[in-house]
Amino acid sequence: MRKNYLCWNFLIVLILLYSGLMIHTSEHGKTASSLNIIPEPASTEVFDGSFTLAETTPVYADCEKSEETAQYFAEELSKRAGLNVEVDTTGSGDDEEGVYLEITDNVDLPHEEGYHLEIEENRVKVRASTQQGLFYGIQSLLQLIDPVEEMGEPQALPSLKITDYPEFDWRGMHLDVCRHFFSTDFIKEMLDLMAMHKMNSFHWHLTEDQGWRIEIEEYPRLTEVGAWRDCIGFELDPADSTHYNEKGEYGGYYSREEIKEIIEYAQSLHINIVPEIEMPGHAMAALTAYPELSCTGGPFEIPLRGGVFDDVFCAGKDETFEFLKNVLSEVIDLFPGKYVHIGGDECPKTRWEECEDCQQRIEEEGLADEDELQSYFIHRIEEFLSEKDKRLIGWDEIKEGGLAPGATVMSWRGKDPGIQAAKDGHDVVMSPTSHCYFDFYQWEAEEPRAIGGLIKLEDVYTFRPAPPEIPEDKRHHILGGQGNIWTEDLPNRDAVTYMALPRMSALSETVWSPEDKRDWEDFSQRLLVHLQRLEARDVDYRVPGGITIEEKEKGKIEMTPELPDSEIYYTVNGTEPGPHSSIYEEPLTFEEPTLVRARVILPDKKMGHVFEHISNRPSYSVDANIHFFAQDVPENIFDGFHETYFQSRWAPNDNAYLTLTFDEPYSAERLLVFSGDERKDWQIKDGIVEVSEDGETFEKLSEFNHGIAVGDLNFDVKALRVSITKDHSDRVIIRELQFEEQVKRR
Ligand code: ACM
Ligand code: ZN
Repeated sequence: MRKNYLCWNFLIVLILLYSGLMIHTSEHGKTASSLNIIPEPASTEVFDGSFTLAETTPVYADCEKSEETAQYFAEELSKRAGLNVEVDTTGSGDDEEGVYLEITDNVDLPHEEGYHLEIEENRVKVRASTQQGLFYGIQSLLQLIDPVEEMGEPQALPSLKITDYPEFDWRGMHLDVCRHFFSTDFIKEMLDLMAMHKMNSFHWHLTEDQGWRIEIEEYPRLTEVGAWRDCIGFELDPADSTHYNEKGEYGGYYSREEIKEIIEYAQSLHINIVPEIEMPGHAMAALTAYPELSCTGGPFEIPLRGGVFDDVFCAGKDETFEFLKNVLSEVIDLFPGKYVHIGGDECPKTRWEECEDCQQRIEEEGLADEDELQSYFIHRIEEFLSEKDKRLIGWDEIKEGGLAPGATVMSWRGKDPGIQAAKDGHDVVMSPTSHCYFDFYQWEAEEPRAIGGLIKLEDVYTFRPAPPEIPEDKRHHILGGQGNIWTEDLPNRDAVTYMALPRMSALSETVWSPEDKRDWEDFSQRLLVHLQRLEARDVDYRVPGGITIEEKEKGKIEMTPELPDSEIYYTVNGTEPGPHSSIYEEPLTFEEPTLVRARVILPDKKMGHVFEHISNRPSYSVDANIHFFAQDVPENIFDGFHETYFQSRWAPNDNAYLTLTFDEPYSAERLLVFSGDERKDWQIKDGIVEVSEDGETFEKLSEFNHGIAVGDLNFDVKALRVSITKDHSDRVIIRELQFEEQVKRR
């Protein structure tokens, strides 16, 4: 830690020294990791010397396609660095000074999405066999510039040679736009963020129980009815979103024109869009619009909560297949990609078991049960998609009852369904809830609302799309991996990006970089710079500032930051830690109980949550005859936080008490007991505090005045008791016990 602190000081001195110069001089002998490219390239060599990129630098393109990419580079350079370069389309520029983009078969790369990036003193060369490869070369080149210190300044790029290509073909992100709706601008922003991370597959989850989001010309009610619900639902604040119609209903959908616009935008970023039309389950919005497609005939309402609903598409009625084929025809018409996602997850069989049509289908088709009926359903859709020269992909439940021959499996319930499908010869995209669910919590701390679970940044980083259990000859069936963003708890842009980033950055490396190039510590260092790129894009990401505080030995506090190289700032005087607080370098030892408050501060000054710990906390037991309310347990009254407290469930009577008995007698000068909340509600009006030297006999120490009881101690306290002395008319809160000297102030 100390070493890095010095490094930063050194860097600041360097910046001050050089601030008068126009050109940022690059240090010689840059290491690959100091390039801070994410995802880490397959191979990097850095040499002495540098190339200066300025507004006068010409950018040459060897053909029409590379010219398009050169234009993209010019636009991004203007946005990221404030440099406005000219793209030269007249000559090849092959032997001239400047930046040169070339699409050529004369490259030695194992993957068509790969590229070579060479930087010498007077030229930058990006070469690839495809425009997509060239585009990724440009992404790396842009990251050598981004983040800039100052817009409009010439940029020194280190001399280097990068050869890079992806490990996996499918580098995906999913977004659920149904639980909550997102504007086309935000979809484009997500696509930009994906492109920056060399991700190439956007799984657009367009239909769900809570909303149908794609315009289908033949079935206008899908969006007239199915795109709108009574309110935002999910017990969220209506003000968390702006997506309301004139009737005040919540929702929205993408018109065909908007979808075409998004597809075109994605294509410009070399991202394929995989549209998802959910079936047979998660279909309440469609069934609300067309209840005749259900087993019961409805009527239905669009649900305002998440979960799994019993009403699903009827598998017995031919009208269902007619409808779905017509819908899919329009979808296929819009989306040029090879894959169509048909969902297939979480389909209860309750209605099918009771439905005459479904049971008749089972009989006619000689199916064993409802699982086979689901399999029949998926097979029928798969055949239709095959006829249209498309490939079906679905969540791993599509395996149940037998998998359709050409189907690709998206493994979400862990990696095992994917492993099995690959062994059976099916293509697989790995997206397990163990690593890839970005709607899960990111740390054990006070975090914005999430669906549950816990997937830390480092967990994402350990993701292996092709687990070792897969035999070598089946490994090619693992197409890649994907991060999923379900939006039950994420009503707007900031909520989504906070959950997606930086986990998506970690994921990008697991699907792009070779396994032997993946190194958590190295990634964390690069991430500290990468986060500044996100900051420059005004993206609300989660500060990876988790701290693990341990006291394995009494009085010895060890703190570990989430990112190995980030700085922890701490205080021991109760004040909030900030940039001027002490920097944690080695374990802290305390003779007496001490409140340590700590937080991570990133190089861009973004601060993580404050984590707290009291060292030398005495152990104690609690005995009380007052019922507590919910999470407001008695232990909260002696945890160092006024924010957490004990709250009685009901108004206490005059015989109510709460006793703490310490394992070791507790030595202090004074004892303060605070009652009531911060607004002074629910204070103890009539009560006393008693203390005991032996844990048996108690003597009165103090009584409550204005909600606080204060008394001087003249012996070591083995036990203390808060007693209520008159019936109260309202519940009470005991906020905190504070022994003077309990928190040592330095
Ligand atoms: C899923 O998360 N239900 C695919
Ligand atoms: Zn049915």
